[in-house]
Amino acid sequence: MRPLSLSLVGMPGCGKSTVGRHLARQLGLVFADSDTEIEARIGMPIRSFFEREGEERFRDLEQQVIDELTERADQVLATGGGAVLRPSNRDALHSRTHVLYLRASAEDLFRRLRHDTQRPLLQVADPQQRLRELFRERDPLYRRTAHFIIEAARPSVPALMGMVLMQLEMAGLVDPARSPSPPPQTH
Ligand code: S3P
Repeated sequence: MRPLSLSLVGMPGCGKSTVGRHLARQLGLVFADSDTEIEARIGMPIRSFFEREGEERFRDLEQQVIDELTERADQVLATGGGAVLRPSNRDALHSRTHVLYLRASAEDLFRRLRHDTQRPLLQVADPQQRLRELFRERDPLYRRTAHFIIEAARPSVPALMGMVLMQLEMAGLVDPARSPSPPPQTH
């Protein structure tokens, strides 16, 4: 098959890194994570960088890293939740990679993230309200950037992987022989 470059977008806590890592392993691709790459470059956690330098400096770095990482082939790239905010990131992701949006509601995300201390944007008095606002602002941007939308509300990682692989197979991007059949649906 042709060289494949996939990327994952979506809200914080939707499972981009977990699904990305599994997908890369399954398809024999390299896994990259833009937040991990940024942290390696700044030598500190993103939360500390936000506090010291502010969000705009972080977004500048994120833009540079996404521009570089989207040039690579045979890769699955997990992006930070705010990667779609800048038009140039949306363009780079959409034009150079096949973009999967893992979509989950603010309520589902809050259930997963309510004890989180690492995500700078959620260190506020009412993180649930913050997630609602972020979702309202970003859902249209994720949709616009994505080629595929995967409803990622509650399914387990194997179920999510099944849904992702099925979409990629139907689009002719992945050879069904390269991936096992998705698990049966249990409703
Ligand atoms: C951010 C999400 C984070 C990280 C940074 C900003 C955001 O990534 O890039 O804290 O704007 O939503 P995750 O989506 O992996 O949490």
